[in-house]
Amino acid sequence: MDRFIIRGGKPLHGEITIGGAKNAGLKLLVAGLLTSERLVLTNVPHIADIATMRALLTQHGLTVETVGNDNTTLSVGGEITSTEAPYDIVSKMRASILVLGPLLARCREARVSLPGGCAIGTRPVDLHLKGLEALGATITLENGYINARAPNGLVGDRIMLPFASVGATENLMMAATLAKGRTEIVNAAREPEMVDLANCLNAMGAKITGAGTGHIMIEGVEALHGAQHRIMSDRIECGTYACAAAITGGDLRLIGGQIDHLGAVVRAFEEAGVEVTQEGDAMRVRRTGALRGIDIMTEPYPGFPTDMQAQFMALLSVAEGASMITETIFENRFMHVPELNRMGARINVHGSSAIIRGVHSLSGAPVMATDLRASFSLILAGLAAHGETILSRVYHLDRGYEAVERKLAACGAQIERVKG
Ligand code: EPZ
Repeated sequence: MDRFIIRGGKPLHGEITIGGAKNAGLKLLVAGLLTSERLVLTNVPHIADIATMRALLTQHGLTVETVGNDNTTLSVGGEITSTEAPYDIVSKMRASILVLGPLLARCREARVSLPGGCAIGTRPVDLHLKGLEALGATITLENGYINARAPNGLVGDRIMLPFASVGATENLMMAATLAKGRTEIVNAAREPEMVDLANCLNAMGAKITGAGTGHIMIEGVEALHGAQHRIMSDRIECGTYACAAAITGGDLRLIGGQIDHLGAVVRAFEEAGVEVTQEGDAMRVRRTGALRGIDIMTEPYPGFPTDMQAQFMALLSVAEGASMITETIFENRFMHVPELNRMGARINVHGSSAIIRGVHSLSGAPVMATDLRASFSLILAGLAAHGETILSRVYHLDRGYEAVERKLAACGAQIERVKG
């Protein structure tokens, strides 16, 4: 297993190009199930989860191939030959559950493994299933699999989500594009990735309005056709590298970064003493003064994103004063805390809140990645720490971040990957 060796203490200066969004791209690939024509996606990130999704769609019968020679364009298409999503793939990547709605809409049946939990929580899919039942599907669970059938096709309905679930919103939005009649999703997720998915589906011939608001309307159509769509830039990758500029006292231009996708995060940066400005197609982040402790609560968009929580935990561990972070989305997303404390941070967890007492400096140490965003919080700590940090289990990071060591080293970081 690969490891990173990081020697901290150097402020980062320079430019980093932000890639296509993992949490948009995975669903846009799944949208390829909704038509037999070719969907061409550009700005595709080179990350492990995209490779896993390609494998899943291929075993459903689709052809997913690289187009051109810049390696960031994928073409998806072909006929569905299998409506089963097997456990060995679904258990590796929870986003696999998103094939359920499209398979039901296209083939009127699907057998998808229950994803099971992951490091950050049990992550049930009950909202996905209840929503699809509202659209007329019959769903039974047996032997760890979801068996879904809609022999007469899906029929539009009004669905009220008790929680603004990102995945449930996406699954239902995609399924409803081919349902008979109108579907309303009330209390829908409002993340920018919902807008990106709706824009792509509409380019394919769907009739979706209201994406980005809590009330999405979908008028079902007979069929969708091929299209070309550029994946939005990854706002979480952008916020993550912004934390790298902030924690090292540096100055970075994040090409492709968009302030309007990171509202609550930008406000948190400014409150903590970090300057964030939009300069054309780049988000510029710099810190010259001291970091100040702040309080954060994670919430569905437009609130502070849970996917930025671990990164801010690292940042605030070296702020002046105390901070409190409350995680309201997932029940076990503080696994980076004991690793940060081994580097000299002073963090105490009380239920869903963590109290952080800022320290003057962290010290490098051997640490272990536990999940995608936690692994980057340890990199951030290593960039600020005195001495050497060795981060193991980097495969967690490779799931969702592309070429981290290259992007950071180009801005002055002393970081190298050791193949293991
Ligand atoms: C998406 O997960 C993202 N993943 C997550 O990013 C992100 O943290 C999350 O949205 C919240 O923004 C992808 O897009 C691939 P949810 P998802 O449905 O769709 C509960 C990362 O680091 N819930 O909004 O699974 C659930 O248990 C990953 O990139 C139900 O109870 O998120 C959780 O507590 C991590 N029943 C909460 O809602 C359901 O049917 C949020 O889940 C569905 C969800």
